[in-house]
Amino acid sequence: MKNKLRSQGWFGRTGKDGFIYRAWMKNQGFPDHEFRGKPVIGICNTWSELTPCNAHFRELAESVKRGISEAGGFPVEFPVMSLGETLIKPTAMLYRNLASMDVEESIRANPIDGVVLLCGCDKTTPSLVMGACSVDIPTLVVSGGPMLTGNYKGHDISTSDVWRFNDAVRAGEMTQDELTVAEACMCRSRGHCAVMGTASTMACMVESLGISLPENAAIPAADSRRKVLAQMSGQRIVEMVNEDVRLSAILTREAFENAIIVNAAIGGSTNFIIHLLAIAGRIGVPLSLQDFDTFSAKIPLIANLQPSGKYFMEDLYYAGGLPAVMKALDHSLHGNRPTVNGKTLKENYQSAECYNRQVIATMDQPFSPFSGVAIVKGNLCENGAVIKPSAASPHLMKHTGKAVVFENIEEYKNRIDSPDLEIDETSVLVLKNVGPIGYPGMPEVGNMAIPKKLLAKGIHDMVRISDGRMSGTGFGTVLVHASPEAATGGNFAVVKTGDVIRLDVASRSLILEVSDEDLQQRKKNWKPLHKKYDRGYVSLYQQHVEQAHVGADMDYLRGGSGSEVTRDSH
Ligand code: FES
Repeated sequence: MKNKLRSQGWFGRTGKDGFIYRAWMKNQGFPDHEFRGKPVIGICNTWSELTPCNAHFRELAESVKRGISEAGGFPVEFPVMSLGETLIKPTAMLYRNLASMDVEESIRANPIDGVVLLCGCDKTTPSLVMGACSVDIPTLVVSGGPMLTGNYKGHDISTSDVWRFNDAVRAGEMTQDELTVAEACMCRSRGHCAVMGTASTMACMVESLGISLPENAAIPAADSRRKVLAQMSGQRIVEMVNEDVRLSAILTREAFENAIIVNAAIGGSTNFIIHLLAIAGRIGVPLSLQDFDTFSAKIPLIANLQPSGKYFMEDLYYAGGLPAVMKALDHSLHGNRPTVNGKTLKENYQSAECYNRQVIATMDQPFSPFSGVAIVKGNLCENGAVIKPSAASPHLMKHTGKAVVFENIEEYKNRIDSPDLEIDETSVLVLKNVGPIGYPGMPEVGNMAIPKKLLAKGIHDMVRISDGRMSGTGFGTVLVHASPEAATGGNFAVVKTGDVIRLDVASRSLILEVSDEDLQQRKKNWKPLHKKYDRGYVSLYQQHVEQAHVGADMDYLRGGSGSEVTRDSH
């Protein structure tokens, strides 16, 4: 063992203090030898019946515990705030930073030498990783795994079909009863969304960063091998404590570049950007929005997964999993980066095989040359906006049209299907005040539904721009994360219906064809429209949240405070 265990600062004490630390733990039936110098491993659990994607985590935690005990550690499970994407209002993103604080303070304040993070539904991964980075003790991530692929009327379905079903109901092509049947067909097993949505993207992110064991990303939640991975992770975290392998040793700049490259190849969610930026900020690695464009620019789409492609996470696992994807990317990756299992990234993927070229392509014959994300800039969003080319319509990647502006989400909902709305397929939908401060919390409303009257004409995609986010399961020619957001009073705040907007993804530009003089004049008359909260966490959030282009973390949470407990009253 390289260092003295920090848990011995509690359990290794003599006298009254040690008595108190050990005695109350013993009320759970732990024998005395558990406290005599074993590595204490926290299992940070986001189990909640209100987070359905993580509802199997008590069972998963048991597998982790088995591995910890086998390796000579002392497992202690603890709960943290769980963020269920489907139920939390107004948006789980509002609470990502709050949950990260819970994780950080829970780890630091307790006698924990190493920690296993049980992550699943979208925000549960970044919030746990962010919090752990700010403490920087040995840490290993176990993801909950994707659901089995859904099946409706003989067709494979998953979360991306929600948007299609919604359009079909609105267009009168599907009945409400059929929609109810489809609900059960889609979510038929434990686990998180089965497409390359944000949860799967996050699971791939931790594997490509090197902070989970290989295969973590794709093993289905219902597959018994998920429990095996959890048990092996429990074993390994004890060794990591003995070797003092901390997050900062693994999360280097090159590890972040690897994650961006892998995310491009798999057509990962745009939410990846905002979360990876926040994680980099916590561990102290410089990373910019431009890096996401730079490092994904030459990477084609080689994973044929919804919403960019055809297949599901279950198919990815059977085709060879993320290691097979990374093997195809070998020449682009920094293969020599260390990972949590003590091997390099390349050592982990070099023996991987692809079993299905319909799911994982080669770099020479990719599914699409368009992948990753493009960062567009211009006077409409000086700090940039994000588009996912693999999910967009090629004919709209260069487009000029007149803006149809909605000042907030309520106005959008009230007017979008109005027969009086002046709009055609060349129009550009603009939605304001759904950014970090403006909503607040930056909800996933960027892939606005197409107006009914255009759906009736067979139009299924339009250019859409907002300062909000887009679900990782969404698709379309959707520009999100416009920064600075409307609530801060920049140019995005004063764009009006009828203004001409020019998008050219190839040249990375998004131009509002309004003169600087006119924009300045409009800004003089601008008044914020968003609600300002004056108490509680939401007030704190609005005062301190940073803009999307730097990760929307709180300004005071950047960096870390280490694992030292600064005051010790005993
Ligand atoms: Fe939890 Fe999609 S709703 S991962």
